[in-house]
Amino acid sequence: MNKQELIDILSDITKNDWLFKEADRVRHENVGDEVHLRGLIEFSNICKRQCKYCGLRSPNKDVERYRILKDELLLYAKNAVNLGYKTLVLQSGEDDYYDTDKMVEIIREIKKFDVALTLSIGEKTYDEYKAFKDAGADRYLLRIETTDQNLYEKMHPNASFENRQRCLYDLKSLGFETGSGCLVGLPNQTVESLADDILFFKELNADMIGIGPFIPHAQTPLKDAQKGDFWLALKVMALTRLNLPDINIPATTAMETLNPNGRLIALQSGANVVMPNVTSTEYRAKYEIYPGKICINDAPEKCRGCIEAKIKSIGRTISKEKGFRTGSQK
Ligand code: 5AD
Ligand code: FES
Repeated sequence: MNKQELIDILSDITKNDWLFKEADRVRHENVGDEVHLRGLIEFSNICKRQCKYCGLRSPNKDVERYRILKDELLLYAKNAVNLGYKTLVLQSGEDDYYDTDKMVEIIREIKKFDVALTLSIGEKTYDEYKAFKDAGADRYLLRIETTDQNLYEKMHPNASFENRQRCLYDLKSLGFETGSGCLVGLPNQTVESLADDILFFKELNADMIGIGPFIPHAQTPLKDAQKGDFWLALKVMALTRLNLPDINIPATTAMETLNPNGRLIALQSGANVVMPNVTSTEYRAKYEIYPGKICINDAPEKCRGCIEAKIKSIGRTISKEKGFRTGSQK
């Protein structure tokens, strides 16, 4: 689709039902009915950045900060593997404590479990990304957040849009399955820029795209901003499926925060991935990117059973594979 077609669909609510059905059909035809589960470990909430929307931003002194060190992290990883996860996702704030050597050690240990490994630890240099790849990491998640450069720079003090793009192209060129995505509903974000976001995912040839509504956090400068619209976020996701038919698209946790059936609705509107939290319950509430995060009091075992039952209730199955992008099986 071209930019005008994307804008027209995004702006026309009478197209919603058609779009969601079409995205569901394209998902079924290209990636099938299996849902891939990725076990998410939130291993440090320490972050040097100041993203205006994020509760983990460094100026927020109300967060109790934690860091999970290697041995404990490996216990959660092992537990997740025992629960049946074939992909683990290591996510953290931008925490310089985990330097390249420490990350490489963790990556090597986790790869011994015969799982696909995704990292989501922010902006790094080409050489750092290369070291992670050489150590065995398979995938990397780094949302562009918005392709509106002006808005990007307002939302991210002391950060550059060019560097964010550079990271994504470096990851692609190193052979990572590269995930990106955006927030929907940031203050002053336009439908035109959401259309550009989708065109950017296509241009990057992203392998995974995560889309979530913006949810204001009380300890951030955006505390009084309006929250993003669930249905608009769902539309951006569905249009991403139509334009990149064979990629992996998660039904995001933020969608479930705004709508009690958000993940199932997303799975029926183009998504084929869910990322349940496998971090020990004691840390979950502290990883408060936005308020109202689901499952903060639930153990990994509970989430696994819960999400399996939900997925089966809509006639879908859980994949037993690592779930690489179709056609790039490793
Ligand atoms: N609301 C919704 N999503 C958020 N993220 C960060 N802060 C918020 C918020 N307030 C998302 C960003 C980031 C991902 C890990 O969480 O898109 O990339
Ligand atoms: Fe965590 Fe439902 S997915 S309790």
